[in-house]
Amino acid sequence: TIEAVIFDLDGVITDTAEYHYLAWKQLGEELGIPFDREFNETLKGVSRTESLERILTLGGKQDDFTPEEKDGLAQKKNEHYVELIQHISSDDLLPGIVSFLDEIKEAGLKIGMASASKNAFAVVDALGVRHYFDHIVDAATVAQSKPHPEVFLKAASALGVKPELAIGVEDAAAGVTAIKAANMFAVAVGEESMLGHADLIVASTDELSLERILERVHV
Ligand code: BG6
Ligand code: MG
Repeated sequence: TIEAVIFDLDGVITDTAEYHYLAWKQLGEELGIPFDREFNETLKGVSRTESLERILTLGGKQDDFTPEEKDGLAQKKNEHYVELIQHISSDDLLPGIVSFLDEIKEAGLKIGMASASKNAFAVVDALGVRHYFDHIVDAATVAQSKPHPEVFLKAASALGVKPELAIGVEDAAAGVTAIKAANMFAVAVGEESMLGHADLIVASTDELSLERILERVHV
C-alpha cells in the first residue's frame, strides 16, 4: 500500500510556473528570441541552465555565448523571477492544496517534495507550508534534471519509502516522465494533451483527492 506522496512545487503547490514563464519570456525578448506558451510547456520542470539552452537553441543562438555569458543570462532570468515572487504568501497556494495535504497527513502517509528549482525553499517558506513536508529535495542536491528520475528517487529514499509505494504529483511533461522513470504512480495536473503519459490526470488542483487517487493505484 502507498506510503508517500511526493510533490513538484512550481505549478502544483503554487502558480510559480507562470512566474518562471514570465521571467524567461522577458529574457527571451531581450535576446530577440520571443516564444509562446506552447514552447514554454517544454521548459516546465526543466532546470535553469537547461531551460536557457532550449531557448537559445530555439533562436539558433546556442553558440553565440561563452559559458560565463550563459551564466550571466541565467542569473538575469533568476533576478526577474525573484522579483516576481517577492510578494508570495499563503494566499498563493493553489485551490485545494491545503486540504489535499491535510488529507495525506491524516491518512498517515509521508509527504515529500521533488523540485527542480533552486528557489524551492524560499517559495515553500513564503507560502508557509514547510511544516507539511517530511523531506524536500531541491535543485541544489540533484545532478540530473527532470525528465531524469533522480530528484523523485532522492525524495523517496530520504522518506524511507520504496519508489513503487510512492505517488508523484506534477504539472510538467518532463516531471511526469521523471515520476514514471522512478517507477512511481504519476498524477498530473493540467491538460491531457501534454500529460497523457500520467497514470491519472486532473484538470485542476482542487480535484486532487487521496481517496480518489488510491482507488486507481494497484500495488
Ligand atoms: C522548476 C520549474 O520547478 O524549476 C522550471 O518548473 C524552472 O520552470 C526550474 O526553470 C528551475 O528553477 P530555478 O528557480 O532554479 O531557476
Ligand atoms: Mg512544475
